[in-house]
Amino acid sequence: MKKILSFLLAFSTSVICFAQAGINIIPEPAEIIQPKIAADFTITPATEILLEGSGLENSANFFNDYLQQCYHFKLKVVTKASSKNVIALNFERMDNPIAGAYTLSVNAKGVYIAGDNQAGAFYGIQTLIQLLPVEPAQKLSIPYVSIKDYPRFSYRGLMLDCGRHFFSVDFVKKYIDYIALHKMNFFHWHLTEDQGWRIEIKKYPKLTEVGSNRNGTIIGRYPGKGSDNQEYGGFYTQEQIKDIVKYAADRYITVIPEIEMPGHGSAAIAAYPQLSCFPDTATIIKPNMISDASKQQLANGRIKLVQETWGVFKDVYCPSDYTFNFLQDVIDELIPLFPAKYIHIGGDECPKDAWKESAFCQNLIKENNLKDEHGLQSYFIGRIEKYINSKGKQIIGWDEILEGGLAPNATVMSWRGEKGGIEAAKQNHDVIMTPTTYVYFDYSQTKKEDSITIGGFLPLDKVYNYEPIPAELTEAEGKHVLGGQANLWSEYVTKPEKAEYMIFPRLSALSEVLWSPKAKKSYSAFEKKLQIQFKRYELWKANYSKAYFELHASILPDPNNKGILWQLETKIKNAEINYATGINQTALPYKSPLRIDKSENYVGILFINNKVVSSIHEMFLINKATGKKISLTTEPAKNWPGNGGAFGLVNGVVSDKDIGSSEWLGWQGNDMEATIDLGNPQSISKINCHLLESKDNWIHLPAYVEAFTSADGNHFTSVGKISQYTATTMGMYDATITISPVKARYAKIIAKNSGNIPDGDNGAGNPSWLFADEIKID
Ligand code: ACM
Repeated sequence: MKKILSFLLAFSTSVICFAQAGINIIPEPAEIIQPKIAADFTITPATEILLEGSGLENSANFFNDYLQQCYHFKLKVVTKASSKNVIALNFERMDNPIAGAYTLSVNAKGVYIAGDNQAGAFYGIQTLIQLLPVEPAQKLSIPYVSIKDYPRFSYRGLMLDCGRHFFSVDFVKKYIDYIALHKMNFFHWHLTEDQGWRIEIKKYPKLTEVGSNRNGTIIGRYPGKGSDNQEYGGFYTQEQIKDIVKYAADRYITVIPEIEMPGHGSAAIAAYPQLSCFPDTATIIKPNMISDASKQQLANGRIKLVQETWGVFKDVYCPSDYTFNFLQDVIDELIPLFPAKYIHIGGDECPKDAWKESAFCQNLIKENNLKDEHGLQSYFIGRIEKYINSKGKQIIGWDEILEGGLAPNATVMSWRGEKGGIEAAKQNHDVIMTPTTYVYFDYSQTKKEDSITIGGFLPLDKVYNYEPIPAELTEAEGKHVLGGQANLWSEYVTKPEKAEYMIFPRLSALSEVLWSPKAKKSYSAFEKKLQIQFKRYELWKANYSKAYFELHASILPDPNNKGILWQLETKIKNAEINYATGINQTALPYKSPLRIDKSENYVGILFINNKVVSSIHEMFLINKATGKKISLTTEPAKNWPGNGGAFGLVNGVVSDKDIGSSEWLGWQGNDMEATIDLGNPQSISKINCHLLESKDNWIHLPAYVEAFTSADGNHFTSVGKISQYTATTMGMYDATITISPVKARYAKIIAKNSGNIPDGDNGAGNPSWLFADEIKID
């Protein structure tokens, strides 16, 4: 018997890893053959790296740098070996359709790596690195093995948003190393945003003098708690960019720059107001978000500001000759810096409000026989594409570039789910899959995230189980899927340690999605390798999320519909789980799911060797609806399923956070219609539904909430309808319908979607989201 308080004092975030004997390579190679009798080859400071071809220096240098950093010694690189103690690098033709194949063998003759090309040899080196022990030593034993390997997809990418927060050259290089260590080959560098322009353009010095600095940033999660009033800035000089691009190229990584247009352009507009359709209209930053300096500057006559908060802003590039000349000049300076075949032109989240209001834009629409503002966006992207194509390069754009017609040679990055990617592939366009639901690394990886994130919930296994080729595509269409990419947006990623925390271990899971043969994927095998991978992160001195080790709690319906079950689980084999109710209560060993049938605070605690390694709290509010049979006429959106779909509405847990909570169920453009079977006739006097409003995120309160009761589940009688809700906190509301008590077995609750988002609000014209959580019946 232990007291909770003492557990919490002993809380330790350290993670216990269990070394796995054998081979733990991530991403899983296509073929691994181990000899029947195990034996080792030992790398020592006397081992030589033998280059048996030209162009293998990058691989040798990377290996040496890795040895130096992690094991504090280096090897001599030679073209003639002085002994058999060698790591030989060479080339050998292999016929995999995607470049980068290699073979690696470790035996009595030493280590032999042969790449199909230079990148292949480099990937062989990455595998060799993963055969090394994860403890620093001067003698590194690696097992005899024979590996044949090749990538599944040609595009294996990771993005970093350096616009919202700036990351130093050193960290960008480290990030590129992380990409390399996972045999990935594209770094998508998000360089311009509303909150900062980060690339030196010599013809437009104000982009960095003005556009790279903001006067403040909101504190905390949007809408935040006012401005921090700290000037924030940073940019990369062209020399630094060349250095980074070379650094990446030495690791067989292509850097794709992204210059956002026509939206997300506030920073450029702050520098050159003529880029806006309304250069004389002041930038809007809400009064509770704006910095003191910006307020002062506006009062002194400044008109355009770099944004200080997050979201989507209506002041976008005007499709004028001034703008096109500007963008073409920017592209002219990009081309010598970035040898990549692609330039990413953004294209996402461009509100059309300004274009609707602008006489110039309306005239342009008429002159060019365009259908509407979406047609104008298509015209914008098409014109830029033509310019970029004329320079021998191709564009990539976010999936909004499909709206109004796709530019002829564009590659689409499908982010709003897989739909855009499917549509583009069906139109014979190349596609890079990067759907929010599977690969947005700014989403939380634990339901109990302590730090601020953008919200959502993207656990490791969901990333691992992602399949980039949608089932809807034919084999020929599927070939247009070049691969996939994870995106790290940086609203709430302010420091390198947080960036590492967000990408690890999810990047390791993604690497297997993009590299390994589909038939070789196994989450349980990956989980075993993960134990060593965690040690590798530590060897790299990289921060990583320990969510995998947390105590996981799930809420299940009680099979007899009497309350709910609270199930606690851990991935750690020798751990002990305890639970307790209330505060300062005695903890008891957890054996099987707990039945919870009264409102109470619960805590689950995970121990290893009597030390607390993780704990989880839940406040249950039990009422007549809790754990009862519930059905929905329309299922929630795939990316907002709540905690277990319909059951999440009656699971006894009321969302205590805005969109940072995974309790919310979301419907876009649809109503919520839930029917609850109480099991037997019961007296009902109050029906309550918990709602969220977050207009900046397109989430609106329902037009009304109506409750019905029924004796037979077929004939329902309306018992109340309301359109005024009680605000609680953080944009959350209670819709409470109080009635004179009626006896009924069934209750139905309809929350009517408010329809399209009205003018003046973010996302105007789009179907609004309806977010609901717990339904309570008293
Ligand atoms: C995006 O996440 N706006 C591409």
